[in-house]
Formats: sequence, C-alpha cells, structure tokens
Amino acid sequence: MIRLAKEKDTKDIWEAHIASIREVCSEDYSNEQIAGWSSFSYSHEHWVKTMKKDHVLVYEKNDKVHGFCHSGIIDDSTAEIYGFYLSPLVVGKGVGMEMLSSTLKYFKDLNNISKVKLIATRTAKSFYEKAGFIVTGPEFQEPTRGIMLECIPMELAL
Ligand SMILES: CC(C)(COP(=O)(O)OP(=O)(O)OC[C@H]1O[C@@H](n2cnc3c(N)ncnc32)[C@H](O)[C@@H]1OP(=O)(O)O)[C@@H](O)C(=O)NCCC(=O)NCCS
Repeated sequence: MIRLAKEKDTKDIWEAHIASIREVCSEDYSNEQIAGWSSFSYSHEHWVKTMKKDHVLVYEKNDKVHGFCHSGIIDDSTAEIYGFYLSPLVVGKGVGMEMLSSTLKYFKDLNNISKVKLIATRTAKSFYEKAGFIVTGPEFQEPTRGIMLECIPMELAL
C-alpha cells in the first residue's frame, strides 16, 4: 500500500534508504562511493520535520515500510523530487512507477505547479525516462557526505 508517511515510519525509512543505496545503486557506483553515500545515522527528528514540511509517500507491505518518495515545492511553479529509494525487496515490481504517478498527481492537483525537477542517480535515469522525464544537462558530480556522486539533472512538464 502506498500512503503518506507517519512518525512511526522513520526507522523503516532509514533502513530502506541504506539498503537501496547499498544493494540497488551499487550496480552503478564504486564501493567507495556506496560506502560514503550510505554512511548516515538514524535521525527520527530529521524525518518528522521533513514529513511536516514536504510530501513524503511510503510503500508499506506486511506492516513494514520498504521505501519512500520525498518531494516538495521549490517555487510558485516548480516541484522537486528530493529522494526516492525502494528497498531491494520491492524494487522492480512496479511500485516505483505507482509512487511516482501518485506524487505527480499530487502536484498536478495543486494547479499552479507546471514542472517537476530532480537530480537522478545513474541507477534511476532510465526509470525516470520511462515516466517522461527528460535530461536537461550533462552528468555532473554532486558532493554527498564526503564523496562525489555522478548525477543527472532531469525534469518533466506537468
Ligand atoms: C528508481 C526506483 C525508485 C524505481 O522503482 P521500481 O519500483 O524499481 O521501478 P518500477 O518497477 O516501477 O519500474 C518502472 C519501469 O522502469 C524500468 N526501470 C526501473 N528501474 C530501472 C533501471 N534501473 N534501469 C532501467 N529500467 C528501469 C522498469 O523496467 C519498468 O519498465 P517497464 O514498465 O517497461 O517494465 C528504484 O529502482 C530504486 O529505489 N532505485 C535505487 C535508488 C535510486 O537510485 N533512486 C533514485 C534517486 S534520484
């Protein structure tokens, strides 16, 4: 089931985020990059604050959350997907596309939002292209927790 995130989900979100980087993104990044990228500690407060400020969807199955899609509004006409990570247990089964559709519908229903931007991982580029996103610039290096990560700017007109 896809639903809005709740305070009780924070630990599961953290676990799914780390597992997704270590077991899904590891196909496209070096061991050193994966180690640095996935070395963040659990913060309940960070996620509670994020849930209040932004739009956070989670995927729940058998009473456990297996991933999240975190997005928000950056100006009058633009939204951004900040983070989208599914655990390897549920990846590749259509859940991601369903969560993305739900997120896009949320922004479309706000009426004023005409564009959704994101910085894609190498891992997710094809997924976003399937959903209609286009690459808006060359791959660049984004500093992330002490290492550099290759990322791709993309966007979709709603
Ligand atoms: C990106 C992600 C959220 C997509 O979720 P998902 O549930 O795996 O995607 P789906 O199963 O809904 O896939 C939808 C379509 O995209 C395709 N797709 C998904 N991931 C893909 C990939 N890495 N390469 C090529 N195609 C991919 C699927 O084949 C499917 O196509 P189909 O409908 O023709 O079969 C998930 O793979 C993930 O968590 N990846 C690791 C974390 C990450 O890189 N997140 C992005 C941060 S910007």
